Amino acid sequence: MLRYADRRKGQRRAMHLVRQHSGTRLEGFLLAGDTRAESWIKILLQDELPAESYGRLLLAPGATAPKAIRSRGRQICTCLNVTHAAIDEQLAAGTGGAEERMASLQASLKCGTSCGSCVPELRRMVQAFVAPGPADGLHSPDSSMS
Ligand code: FES
Repeated sequence: MLRYADRRKGQRRAMHLVRQHSGTRLEGFLLAGDTRAESWIKILLQDELPAESYGRLLLAPGATAPKAIRSRGRQICTCLNVTHAAIDEQLAAGTGGAEERMASLQASLKCGTSCGSCVPELRRMVQAFVAPGPADGLHSPDSSMS
């Protein structure tokens, strides 16, 4: 547990850290007074990112994280805890048309291989990657290989 309190300025912060086999994670936090740090601390908590390297910086005020934080993004596959960012990364690394990329996602990340409720969203993501709309020029289509 890390704590900071400044009664005169009305500031209070507390971080509950838990050591796990994969590293130290934030399990809960409390901010009173200046709560701007919520924006980046919440990402550490929700994405279960390693928090050990932050140490006492977790008690720092302000909306900017003292170290860069990369959110894992929205969870797409609940069964296998696969996020939007992981799927985007895999799609960018893959080749082929929609079916090949979908098969590659399922083989590498296992998303969509349990209950299947995320498969429609996965198919939308694959389709958007393979055949981007006119306003979406960020991905390089590779549909010629399908
Ligand atoms: S939510 Fe993806 S397989 Fe169940």
